[in-house]
Amino acid sequence: MDLDAIDREARADLGRAASLADIEALQSKYLGRKDGRLTSILRNLGTLSPEEKKKVGQRANELRVSLETDIAAKRQTFESDSLQKNLAGQKIDLSLPGDAFVRGTAHPILSTIREICDIFRRLGFSAVEGPEIETDQNNFTDLNIPANHPARDMHDTFYVEPAKGDTGAPWVLRTHTSPVQIRVMKQMSPPVRVVSPGRVFRHEATDATHAAVFHQVEGLAVDENISFADLKATLAFFAEEFFGPKTRVRFSPSYFPFVEPGAQMEVSCFACGGTGRVPTGDACSICKTTGWIELLGAGMVHPQVLRNVGYDPARVTGFAFGMGVERLLMTRAQVRDIRAFLESDIRFLGQFQ
Ligand code: PHE
Repeated sequence: MDLDAIDREARADLGRAASLADIEALQSKYLGRKDGRLTSILRNLGTLSPEEKKKVGQRANELRVSLETDIAAKRQTFESDSLQKNLAGQKIDLSLPGDAFVRGTAHPILSTIREICDIFRRLGFSAVEGPEIETDQNNFTDLNIPANHPARDMHDTFYVEPAKGDTGAPWVLRTHTSPVQIRVMKQMSPPVRVVSPGRVFRHEATDATHAAVFHQVEGLAVDENISFADLKATLAFFAEEFFGPKTRVRFSPSYFPFVEPGAQMEVSCFACGGTGRVPTGDACSICKTTGWIELLGAGMVHPQVLRNVGYDPARVTGFAFGMGVERLLMTRAQVRDIRAFLESDIRFLGQFQ
């Protein structure tokens, strides 16, 4: 019978098969959908007599099932053989150490901003932000710095080219965070207690202590009966929290057009305890023997500024302060060059964690 011959031949072919390709050839030779030898027989069953059909059909189907099983088994062997060969060729050394995963950290300026805002949050101040591109009105005019006022010389300003038809001009890159005072007061009525961190811009040459882009945190409190004593207590608390207990503060007169009176605040030098001399008797290099470090500008909000935002200076008063974040951090961590914060050298930045 034809089927016996096919059976024998197929077994012989299987025995000789030496590769996956041989298996595929064998599969199509006997079981191929179009003209596989066994497939043809199965397809032509209809031409046989009913008896023949039953006999041949049964045998042919058995053969098909057993061939399919054997072919599949053989294919499996070749497939796993070639996998083993691949693996052996790759020689992965599982004992090699992996790549160390370096964990990122917040930039020291960002974490300092968070630290400062946290200290003031505990005193009831909430943090708000303002835009870096400001109107000349918010950055200067409403802060009592009118056009041609000599105080405008205090800031070398980046002016922003206005778009065609722009009526909000002139625009500036804010030279300080004080315009956020104006925005906040125009938006809400007293009591106001906010701090506002952010980037500020000054058109000046960069050196070890000056950068054209740096950060400030602004503070503003307006309410009935706010006095200079509130300003002093608030900033004295901040100084102790930021520089450590026993840090003393002192205020001396200073001029900013948007505050009256205006002051600058110094803190006692944390390196020498305010004595000007380090324990070895040498001159303190941090405060240059003065015992004090100049830290920030502050004052009572000028009545004209209160009027500019629609507040009544006869009813409410307020204090404001502004501090440079880089300066604070440089002072505390004894960093001598502000540019280190801009250079993305993680050997430097990683030390602040
Ligand atoms: N805006 C001032 C500056 O940039 C700092 C300041 C803020 C002073 C608030 C007084 C009150 O120098």
